[in-house]
Amino acid sequence: MAVTQSARRRVEALRRDIETHSHRYYVLDAPTIPDSEYDRMFRELLELEAAHPDLVTPDSPTQRVGGAPLQEFPPVVHAVPMLSLNNAFSDEDVIGFDRRAREGLDKDEIEYAAEPKFDGLAISLHYERGRFVRGATRGDGYTGEDVTANLRTVRSIPLKLRGARAPGAVEVRGEVIIYKADFERINARQRERSEKEFVNPRNTAAGALRQLDPRITAERPLRFFAYGVGDPAKLPFKRHSEILDWLAEEGLPVAAERATVKGLSGLLAFYQKMGKKRERLPYAIDGVVYKVNDLGDQRSLGFVARAPRFALAHKYAPEEAVTEVLDIEVQVGRTGTLTPVARLAPVSVGGATVTNATLHNEDDVRRKDVWRRDTVTVRRAGDVIPEVVSVSKAGPREQGDRFEMPARCPVCGSEVVRLEGEAASRCTGGLFCPAQRKGALLHFASRRAMDIEGLGDKLVDQLVDSNKVLTPADLYTLDAATLAALDRMGEKSARNVVAAIAGSKNPTLARFVYALGIPGVGEEVARILAGHFGSFDGLLGADWTELAERKKAAQKENAARKRRGEAPLPPVLEGVGPELMESLAKFLSQQHNREVIRQLTSGPGAVVVQREKRRATAGRLDGKVFVLTGALPGLTREEAKEMIERSGGKVAASVSRQTDYVVAGAEAGSKLGKAHELGVAVLDEAGLRKMFEESKS
Ligand code: IVH
Repeated sequence: MAVTQSARRRVEALRRDIETHSHRYYVLDAPTIPDSEYDRMFRELLELEAAHPDLVTPDSPTQRVGGAPLQEFPPVVHAVPMLSLNNAFSDEDVIGFDRRAREGLDKDEIEYAAEPKFDGLAISLHYERGRFVRGATRGDGYTGEDVTANLRTVRSIPLKLRGARAPGAVEVRGEVIIYKADFERINARQRERSEKEFVNPRNTAAGALRQLDPRITAERPLRFFAYGVGDPAKLPFKRHSEILDWLAEEGLPVAAERATVKGLSGLLAFYQKMGKKRERLPYAIDGVVYKVNDLGDQRSLGFVARAPRFALAHKYAPEEAVTEVLDIEVQVGRTGTLTPVARLAPVSVGGATVTNATLHNEDDVRRKDVWRRDTVTVRRAGDVIPEVVSVSKAGPREQGDRFEMPARCPVCGSEVVRLEGEAASRCTGGLFCPAQRKGALLHFASRRAMDIEGLGDKLVDQLVDSNKVLTPADLYTLDAATLAALDRMGEKSARNVVAAIAGSKNPTLARFVYALGIPGVGEEVARILAGHFGSFDGLLGADWTELAERKKAAQKENAARKRRGEAPLPPVLEGVGPELMESLAKFLSQQHNREVIRQLTSGPGAVVVQREKRRATAGRLDGKVFVLTGALPGLTREEAKEMIERSGGKVAASVSRQTDYVVAGAEAGSKLGKAHELGVAVLDEAGLRKMFEESKS
């Protein structure tokens, strides 16, 4: 296709917009459009570039990942060596640094630039005429490795500088890191997949940058922060802080937490302030860095050995420490999850004493191979619960030192289950397990469940601790006098709570099902179940084990049909997977859960669950989008349309990604081609009739 002027203009406009929004998202942390809109623009650009390959340029946002895996990383000699910093571990060290700087410069007081010390790895980025051309690791400080292809995948590294003041060539220096939350997220994913967890953000970032295949790097949530340039003398600035401001103007991420401070007291105050903030920062820092701000002064102070005299890293207490595992116990949470917890010989980590650390779940214990009496590394980062990172030295490992997940809940004795595909082991005690009671009650009363106003944390704690309420059914036997006798409960608020409880007696089926707190049953699933069964008795009466089997069989059959290019079977209870059905089977088979449900729904004062109008779900064509093309042998267009709509389906005029089925007859036109292109299932009339028949069953 010829490159039209309008395509070129559109491509340029899209790139500009995508870059603006990328910068807002990845650098400023302040997106102004929803992710979906960004994705849409990105897709449009991809499509335009596919149609007009000659419009593709290396700095297009679509070109971040590309090219074949490398054989090796070519060496890069750093024109200005990438040196290290001297470290300070105490105020005395800082006092000495400031004194030497003042003496060296013959000044009474020095202005410093102070910034966080990122705990990642140093890299250098070369921009020529504003375009990112080469990036390298620090290596031994003199020679690094060319990791350009990998660095291009890092979204916060601009491929093009923004400002009008971009010089002919500049070498930006900074640190590649992974945000704490991103790190938690990728490790949670590893745990879910029963794969090895990453040890810490820094190693993960380093490993990602040294991948020969940039597609792997692109999957890691790497970020970049700039903290300087290779040779400041090449820029027209007098102070380091001006360089940082300029880098930010050019679209590079620069720490918002930077400051210029005066003298020793300014340095120590900055250290204190950042120390307090440290836990709340999105990234890990292991200290702060002080730099003499005046670039001329920096030059006159110069270097000793491999570190500058004009800069200093002031370190914080490490967030990791080594200690002994005294025991491994399990804790039952409010949702019934059993978490193995290591009891530790007390150790100071990042300024706090740690005596417990989580081991997340059974797989985590196995993967890390932690036994009682092992010596382990523990980490405490920010407000997160301390965790065992790895075994530093195995203990005697005698019988009884190995951790086994108990078969019964240590709190209520109910069976413990682990759903297929889930990392967590759960107590099936549900509404009956004391450990879960408060959580279950709060959930039951919550706004989107039974919506009982006034039944919050404090009240639930008191009711459960005094044994006045053990299950949600007990709520409906409470009277105002009992409530008024509790701490901090006036007569009026007691009456209000009783009225709120009474007012919740007529819930919709969906709310009631959600309120029960069945593992895996959120609001959406509750709505699907309510629509499908129409009444609570219907849901109770279903054979969930059998349904789960049927669903699994249907899924298997559909996978085979898909391979053969055939239309799938109509879904069995769409939106509810087999694991969830098994969870329902388990919950409803537990005697105590049945008992609570019985108490809730029968007898005087019972909850009366509203019936819901049954909506087509299982086996219906509900919401499915069909497109008709060509002439069908035995049905007119109108008849086919009516048949589909009667079963809850819709008929659309053109094929798109939203289309579920294309019904093709003789002399089907371009719609059929489009269906093949998009991988949409194609039916003939017989296929449509079969589906229609099945949908009625
Ligand atoms: S300035 C002459 N500023 O710390 C050295 N370095 O020991 C100039 N680092 O691997 C370095 N945050 O990558 C500087 N705000 C910051 C830093 C920082 C982290 C790293 C740097 C290097 C190490 C120096």
